Amino acid sequence: MLEAMEMILALAERFTKLEFIDFGGGFGIPYRPEQQEMDVNALGQQMTERFEKFCKEYGRPLSMKLEPGRYLVGPAGFLLLSVTNRKQTPEYQFVGTDSGFHHLVRPTMYGSYHRIWNASRMEDELETVAVVGNVCETGDFFSVDQGNIQRELPKTVVGDCLVIADAGAYGFSMSSQYNSRPRPAEVLVQDGQARLIRRTEHYADLLRTAQELN
Ligand SMILES: Cc1ncc(COP(=O)(O)O)c(C=O)c1O
Repeated sequence: MLEAMEMILALAERFTKLEFIDFGGGFGIPYRPEQQEMDVNALGQQMTERFEKFCKEYGRPLSMKLEPGRYLVGPAGFLLLSVTNRKQTPEYQFVGTDSGFHHLVRPTMYGSYHRIWNASRMEDELETVAVVGNVCETGDFFSVDQGNIQRELPKTVVGDCLVIADAGAYGFSMSSQYNSRPRPAEVLVQDGQARLIRRTEHYADLLRTAQELN
C-alpha cells in the first residue's frame, strides 16, 4: 500500500490544483489461515505521516480519500451451502452442494482461496475432498488452492452445512443467475439477532424483466 501510495504521489505532484488525492482500495484481508490481519493502525499512521509530508512539499493541505471495499465487508460475509450429494471417482471424492460459481465466482474466476468449514461436524475425522457447485461447468469448484482442487474437511454427509468464509466482498455483487439458478437469500446477523435482508430468488424472478410478446 505504501509503495502504491508513492506512485500516486509521484503522479499527483505534477498537478497544481488538487483538492484531494484518492488512494483507492486494495486493503487486504487474510483469506488463508496462515495469513495475518493487516495492522490498520500502523498503516494509517504511516500513510498519514507520508501524506502530511507530501502536503507540506505541495504547499497546502489536501484531503486524503480511501475506497476500502473488501477490507470492510469481505470477512463479514459467509456463504452457506448444503451438501446435496457425494461422488467418488478414481481420482477425487467430490462433495456436491446447492450453490456454485453463480453465487461466489472468485474461486472459479481467479483461483482464489476461501476457507471452508463443515458447520455440521467441526470435530470429525478429516477426509480429502473436492467441494463443487451444481453448475455443469468444469471450473465450478469452491475448494480451489492454486491449481489444487481438493481440501481436507471433516467427513461430509448429505445435508451437512458448509460455510465459505470471506464471501462478503465480491460475492453477492458478482453473483449471477447463470443456468437459470436463482440467487440465495441474505441474512444479517447483528447483536446475535438474525434478520432476513434479502429474500431467496424464485424462478419468477428470473423472468421478472422479460417483456410479454403479443
Ligand atoms: C474504483 C474502486 N475503488 C475501490 C475498490 C475496492 O477495492 P478493494 O475491495 O480491493 O478494497 C474497487 C474494486 O474494484 C474499485 O474498482
